[in-house]
Order: sequence, then structure tokens, then C-alpha cells
Amino acid sequence: MNISEEFIAELKEKNDIEEIISDYVPLTRKGKNLMGICPFHAERTPSFCVYPANGSFYCFGCGAGGDVITFLRLIEHYDYIETVKFLAERAGMNFEVSEEEDESHKKKLLIYKINREAARFYHNCLFAPEGEEALGYLKKRGISLKTIKHFGLGYSPKSRFALINHLSKKGYNNEDVVLANLAFKTRNLKEKDRFCNRLMFPIIDVRGNVIAFGARTMGGDIPKYINTSDTPVFKKSNNLFALNFAKNSGMESFILTEGYMDVVSLNQAGFQNAVAGLGTALTQNQVKLISRYTDSVLVTYDSDEAGQKAAAKAITMLKDSGINVKVITIPKGKDPDEFLRTQGKDGAVRFKNLIEKSENDTEYRLSKAKKMYDSGSDEDKINYLTNAARILSSCQNPIEREVYVTRLSLEMGINKSALIMQIEKFMKQNLKKHKKQEFKNLEKITSALNDKINPEKKENLRAAVAEESLISYIINNVDKASDIFLRVNADDIITNFNRRVFECVKSIIAEGKTPDITSISAKGDFNFEEIGRITKIICSYNSQLVNQKTAYEYINIIFDENKKIKVKNVNELSEIKVKEYIETLKSDKK
Ligand code: UTP
Ligand code: MN
Repeated sequence: MNISEEFIAELKEKNDIEEIISDYVPLTRKGKNLMGICPFHAERTPSFCVYPANGSFYCFGCGAGGDVITFLRLIEHYDYIETVKFLAERAGMNFEVSEEEDESHKKKLLIYKINREAARFYHNCLFAPEGEEALGYLKKRGISLKTIKHFGLGYSPKSRFALINHLSKKGYNNEDVVLANLAFKTRNLKEKDRFCNRLMFPIIDVRGNVIAFGARTMGGDIPKYINTSDTPVFKKSNNLFALNFAKNSGMESFILTEGYMDVVSLNQAGFQNAVAGLGTALTQNQVKLISRYTDSVLVTYDSDEAGQKAAAKAITMLKDSGINVKVITIPKGKDPDEFLRTQGKDGAVRFKNLIEKSENDTEYRLSKAKKMYDSGSDEDKINYLTNAARILSSCQNPIEREVYVTRLSLEMGINKSALIMQIEKFMKQNLKKHKKQEFKNLEKITSALNDKINPEKKENLRAAVAEESLISYIINNVDKASDIFLRVNADDIITNFNRRVFECVKSIIAEGKTPDITSISAKGDFNFEEIGRITKIICSYNSQLVNQKTAYEYINIIFDENKKIKVKNVNELSEIKVKEYIETLKSDKK
């Protein structure tokens, strides 16, 4: 779809990048720019930079970068049209998209419609005669009619064609139902329903769209749950079950559980702040999603080994993103749903008690360590204290540390200073490890080694650096561009990626437009990682280091490197020639 350059320019002017990013990331001013904690990867020290001067952002830690449009696309998972629409509305600009103007946007809207129709169908089936067993099953599990309606729970009939026939009657194409992952093509190319004889949990995003389904068997079928695979509107790892409710719950924290049924039961008991993952371990994107709505999470995972391992990982990830974590331990190895069910009408009050008793993660880890070493032997005592010191070394709050140290020294009858010494030792180690990791990340992104975006850079370092400097010079000095284009051709650019950027910039200038990250992302066929790199190339431009004189020097370097490659090729060629010659000599002898 073609949106005019003028429109985009106005859109960017009226939507200040600093203002928009501030809604997601607290920013502090550093000279002309602003810095903050990157919303796209876990970090403690800020490496996310916003450049108001040219309306772009770049993270030195993970390489994400671009303009305000790219930012919204990355953080909201909007497509291009959705982003433009959002920004236009925000700025009070008129922007009408007719559906046929954008194919992929249209497909997405269609899938939302199909999903909504499917959810309605499944829900109705639950109350039809064929849904009797499913409805009974829900009742048996203590789920009220009100809760069923609230979540829009449903039932997928036994027939393998129930949904596909229904949707076909409503005028939807089988192919599109397959695209929504509600049906699949069998070997004889006939479409069949994907979900049969299962309890259906619609998954709804924060904007109220039905994006996917979870489906539970009511018998002993394996797998117990199946979920919608990734579709154009759904990515398991980017969404959470019931986020649509939790976000509006008005409660301070979220309750993070493992399962659909936990969330349903918790909601019924009045905890609208419950969310669950979608059948995968908690992902970085889900953590980032949570952190947009709350900075405090109550984790309650199953008490089996797998659940506890998953909880430990989830806690670390949440904490690394600056979220306060507390752990709700449910007695007798139950999950929240089982707990609420067995407590009957007192369930809600008892669960509130559990929340009040919930431990912050330090406390939780300490009590776990204590349970592990409870024989009372000297050896166990040492192990417990050493472990406790390790746990406290990751506790960032000095007051909190002091409280635990006092408690531990009293409890174990040891000197506080010995414990403190051990904690400080671990803290130093952590810091070292942390610094090393951050340095490694930085190295990865700045060095040419392992450069996935421009893999030829490591073989052609000198040329690639010159190319990047030249590109940033052109973009930042458009008035000098024609002079540069007289001297260098795209063919002279050695590395493939830089050549693509160079060509893109050249054609934008040829059209009389301004080359910047917005026009480059709109024109070139670049993915998000590549857009990040181009942003870096543009933003690292320094007019003191790159001026007309140095630009010419870079051109000379590029020519120089081209010559070297030619010589190398000639040498390789002659090597082959020599080999051929030897081969012919050999065969002549025969
Ligand atoms: P659980 O096995 O703990 O089930 O899986 P549950 O949520 O307690 O469900 P009930 O109480 O038995 O009905 C936890 C979550 O893991 C995912 C689902 O999201 C489930 O809610 N899961 C589990 C799957 O995706 N597939 C499976 O086969 C099992
Ligand atoms: Mn359960």
C-alpha cells in the first residue's frame, strides 16, 4: 500500500518519538539523547537510546532500532497499516484504509472474524444437546454459568466437519479456515476440523480480538491440551491467557499461573488479575508484556518438580526485568484450581490468605534451601548457610539483606560478619559475571565476528567499515550525495548488505525524497534486525569524524579493497589453471 511521504512526515512530526517511547520506557536525558532500559531484551543497565534529532531509537545491547513506526511494530506487534492507523488517530489525522488496499492486513482481519465466529459456534455447541457432556464436565469442576459466559468457553463437536461446514455456510473459504489453524488439509486434500470433542478456551488479546484457542480433552486423550499453532494473528510466545481481563482488573499485581483452568477458577473467585502462559515456558516477550501493565507479580506454579523448575526460571526472568516477585505456595501440592475447588465457598478467602502469606522470592528460595539441608549436621549447616549467602547476594535491596542476615545469624547461632563476608564475596563474583556478560553482548553487537546481518563483514572488515561510514555520510549530508554517487557505484560496495542499503538510499534520493530510517524501512525489503543495523549506521554518524575529506578517503579504501579482491581472484584463478595444467600433463603421460 502506498502512503505518501508527506503523510508519513506529518505523522512523525505530530507523534513525538520521545513521548511515545516514554509510555513504555522510563527515559533519562543524556545530552541531546535519552537513555533507558531496553524493552526488547532483559538488562539492568540502560543501553537503549532515543535520538530525538532524527526520530530514531537504537539498543546497543540487542541491536533493535528504527523509527517510531518500527518501535510500535516491535512492541505492539502491529503491522505497518495498524501502526499508521494508530499514530494517525493519536495525532487526530484523517487516515482511511479501504480493506482491499492491503492484502496482509485484510487477511488478518479475516482471521479475527473467523476466530470470533468459531468462538461463537463452540460456545453455542456447549449449550446444544451434543454439548451436554462438556457442560456437565464444567459443572463438575465447579465452573458456574456466569464464568462460562465470561470466558466464552465452548465445546467442539465430535464430527470432524462441524466447524468447517458451519463456517462454509457463513460464506468463509476453507482455505482461510486452515490459515486460522481451525482446520487442516488431510492427505486427500479435504479440510477437517482441528479441534474435535474438546472443551474450548478462546484466547483474546488486549484489543478484544479472538486470536487463538486452547482445547482440553475431557477423557484421557494425549495430549491433554492442544493449542492453536502460530498464525498470522497469533504467536504463542507473545501472548498470555486472560490478559484482556487482568489488564482491566484494577489490581496492583498479576497472578501468574500455569494453566487455563487455574485462571478460570481464580477469576470465578474474584481474582481477575490471573494470567497464564499458553503451553510454553514463560518467554521474554511475555515478561515484557506483563511489565507493561504491572511491576509486581505473584507466581503460583504447580508444586511438582517440573512446575518448580519452571517457577524458578520464570522468577529469574521476571526479576531481571525489574518486576517484584512473590511466590504463592499452595499446600498439599495442589494447583490453584484444585485448591479453590476443594475449599468450596471459602476458597476465595483462603486464597487471599495464601497471597498474604506469599513470600518474596528471597524468602521463598531461603526456605527451599533450608528444607534441602535440614539434617542438623555440621555439613548441612555449612551448605545451608553458603547457599543462603548465595541467595542473599542476588538480593539488590541492602535493607532487605540486612533483615535476612540478622534473622539467619540468630537462627543458626553464627556471627553476622562471617555471613556478610561470604555474601560480599558472592556479590563481587556476580558483578564480575554480569559485567562479563554485558561486555560479551556489546562485543557481539559491535564486532564483525558472527555478524548475522552482514556476514561478509568479518572477511572484509576494512571495506565494510568504510562502506558504513560512507552510507551514514550520504544520509546525513544529502546535498553531497550526487557528488558521492558520481564517484562510487553500487557495484563497488563489497559487502552484500551494505550494497543493498546503498542502493536503497540511492533510489530514494533519485526519487527526490529524503533518505532516513523511515523512508528506508518503507522502501527497502529489510527485516527488523536489518532496520536496527541501519539505524545504528545512521546514528553513529559523527560530523567531526566523517566530513567530505574523510568520505573521499573511505571511497579510496573501498577502491583499494576492490583491487585486492581482484588480485586474489586472479591468483585463485591461476591456481586452478596450474592444477588443470598438471592434470592434463598427467593424462598425457597415460
Ligand atoms: P496442566 O497439565 O497442569 O493442566 O498443564 P491444568 O492447567 O492443571 O489443567 P487441568 O486442571 O488438568 O484441566 C498446564 C498448562 O500447560 C499447557 C496448558 O496451557 C495447560 O493449561 N498444556 C498442558 C499444554 O499446552 N498441552 C498439554 O498437553 C498439557
Ligand atoms: Mn489443574
